[in-house]
Amino acid sequence: MRSHYCGALRTKHIGETVTLCGWVDRRRDHGGVIFLDLRDREGIVQVVFDPDTDEHFQRADRVRPEYVLCITGRVRARGEGTVNPAMATGEIEVLGKELEILNSAATPPFQMDEYTAVGEEVRLQYRYMDLRRQEMQQRLMLRSKITSAVRAFLDAEGFLDIETPILTRATPEGARDYLVPSRTHPGQFFALPQSPQLFKQLLMVSGFDRYYQIARCFRDEDLRADRQPEFTQIDIEASFVDERDIMGITENMIRELFRSVLNVELPPFPRMSYAAAMERFGSDKPDLRIPLELVSVDDLMQQVDFKVFRGPADDPEGRVAALKIPGGATISRKEIDDYTSYVSIFGARGLAWIKVNDINAGVQGLQSPILKFMPEEIVGQMMERLEAADGDIIFFGADKARVANEALGALRVKVAEDIGLVAEGWSPLWVVDFPMFEDDGKGGWAPLHHPFTTAACHHEELAADPGAALSRAYDMVLNGCEIGGGSIRIHDRAMQETVFRLLGIDEQEAEEKFGFLLKALQYGAPPHGGLAFGLDRLVMLMVDAQSIRDVIAFPKTQTAHCVMTDAPGDVSAQQLRDLNIRLRQTREQGE
Ligand code: AMO
Ligand code: AMP
Repeated sequence: MRSHYCGALRTKHIGETVTLCGWVDRRRDHGGVIFLDLRDREGIVQVVFDPDTDEHFQRADRVRPEYVLCITGRVRARGEGTVNPAMATGEIEVLGKELEILNSAATPPFQMDEYTAVGEEVRLQYRYMDLRRQEMQQRLMLRSKITSAVRAFLDAEGFLDIETPILTRATPEGARDYLVPSRTHPGQFFALPQSPQLFKQLLMVSGFDRYYQIARCFRDEDLRADRQPEFTQIDIEASFVDERDIMGITENMIRELFRSVLNVELPPFPRMSYAAAMERFGSDKPDLRIPLELVSVDDLMQQVDFKVFRGPADDPEGRVAALKIPGGATISRKEIDDYTSYVSIFGARGLAWIKVNDINAGVQGLQSPILKFMPEEIVGQMMERLEAADGDIIFFGADKARVANEALGALRVKVAEDIGLVAEGWSPLWVVDFPMFEDDGKGGWAPLHHPFTTAACHHEELAADPGAALSRAYDMVLNGCEIGGGSIRIHDRAMQETVFRLLGIDEQEAEEKFGFLLKALQYGAPPHGGLAFGLDRLVMLMVDAQSIRDVIAFPKTQTAHCVMTDAPGDVSAQQLRDLNIRLRQTREQGE
C-alpha cells in the first residue's frame, strides 16, 4: 500500500506524491485546516488537510487517535516559522489529497505521551499499545540489529547455528526448573532448559567445533530488573580452545557489535581477579565508572574493643571494610538512615560512619557515633590509610566477608548514583580466577559457575583443597552488569567425578542426572569451552533502558506473570486427566 514510511520523509522528497500508512498520533484543528500526525515504526510526519479536498477533509475531521489510515499527498517544505527541529521530519509536511480510514480504534487505555502516569502494570496489560511508542519501537528495532550483527560476526568466524531442545532434562545452572508434564510418560516431566549447556558440550563431542545459538533459557528464580523467567542467551561453544581464545573471540564480538550498531569504540577490557574485585569493590561485577573503592581495616580493628568491629576483624571469614565518599559529609542523617536500611537488605546489621570536618584537628575534627569506642591512635592510622580529607564521609561494614562485601558493594553503587559520581561512557572488564567452589552454607560446596567447569589445577589437587582451588571460568562485565559468563569445561571423566564427589553428587545421582554426558565424555571428547551472553542485559545497556523488561516485547512481571495473556492460567479437568495429574487443591479451595 505505502510508497514511503512516514518517518523516512525528508526535504529530498519535496514535490513527490507519496502514499503513507500508519496510526494517528495526534489530530489538531487549526482554523479550518486539519493537522494529522501520522505515525509508523520509522517515525512521525505531519499531514495537512485543507477544505479544498472536501470528501477527504470530512474524513480527516472524523479520525481519532490510533485510527489506522492510508494517506496520499504531496510532500512540501514547511512554511517559515513552522519548521520543527525536534522532529526528524520537521522540515517538511505532507499536503493530504486522499485519506482512507483502514480501521477505527477504541479510545486508547492511555495516551501515548502520558504512558508514565499509568504505571507499568497497565502498560504491560496493553503491551501492544505500549509497544507503539517510538521509544519501544526503537529499542526492539535495535535489538533486531544487535542479533543480526552477532549472527554476522559469528557466521564469519565459522560458528554454526544449531538448535537444541526446549523439552529436555534439568540443567544445573543453579535456579529452579520449569517443568512440563509428559502425557505419554505418565508421572514424568520434562524440564525447560536453564541454558543449552549440556547440549552444546555434546555438540563439541560430535565434532562441530564451533557452535552458537540465540537460545531461550528458562529459570524459575527471584526476579529483579535484570532477570526474567525466560530470557535469551547468545550461547557459544568451541573445541580445541583455551580461555584466551574464547575471551579473545567474544571480546572482539562485543567490540564489533558496539562499533557497527552504536558507532562506539570500546576501551580495552582489563582483567581482574575475583579476589581483587571483591577486595576493592565488594562485587564480582564492579562498575569501574565509579571512582570509589573499599579499603580493608581488619588489622586496625583487631586492636579495638568495639565488639561490632572486633568480632568480624578477628574472624577469618569476617571482614571490616571502609568506603570513603569524597565530599560525602553533606549527606544528611536522614539519608544515612536510608542507606542503613538499604544495606540491611543485604544482611548488614548497621552502617557505621565518620564525617571528616577538619582532618587536621584530630578526633575533634571528626563526627561519628563510633569514635567513642576507638583509641585515638587507631582512628589516626585509619584516616591516614584512607587518605581522608575535609568533607569526606566514611562508611563501615563489619560482618562475615560475604555480607560486608555485598552491603558495601551495593552501597558504593547507590551512593555514586545518588550524588552523581558515575562517569559517562563504557567500562568493560573481564573477571577471572574465580574460586572453583563456595561454601553452600550447609557444610558443603556449591559451584561458583556450574559443575562442568574445569579447575585450574589437577583433579588430585582439587580434591586435596577444594576451597583454595581456582576455576577456569570468566565473566564479562559491562558498567557493573554481568553480561556474560563461561568457562573451559571438564572433558575427562576423572575431573568430572572429582567435582561431582566434592559437590556431594553421588555416583547414582550423577548417572541419573547426567549419565548421558558422562558417557559422552568417554568417547573422545575434545578439550572445549565457551561462554553465554545475556542478550537482554546487553540490549538493555546498549539502548540505555532501566530494566530488561523494556527490551523484551512481552515480558513478565516480578511474580512471573504475563498480565496481558494472564498466563499462567488454569487448565481443564480433562487436560489434567490426560496428564495423569491431580491437583492438591484448586485455586478456589486454596489460597
Ligand atoms: P550463566 O548462568 O552465567 O551461564 O548465564 C549467562 C548469562 O545469561 C544472563 N542471565 C540472565 N538474563 C536474564 N534473566 C535471567 N534470569 C538470567 N540468568 C542469566 C546473564 C549471564 O551472564 N551455561 C552457562 C554459560 C557457559 O558456561 O557457557 C550459563 O548459562 O547475562
Ligand atoms: P551500636 O553500638 O549497635 O549502636 O552501633 C554503633 C554504630 O555502628 C551504628 O552507627 C551502627 O549503625 C553501626 N553498626 C552496627 N553494626 C554494624 C555492622 N555490622 N557493620 C557496620 N556498622 C555497624
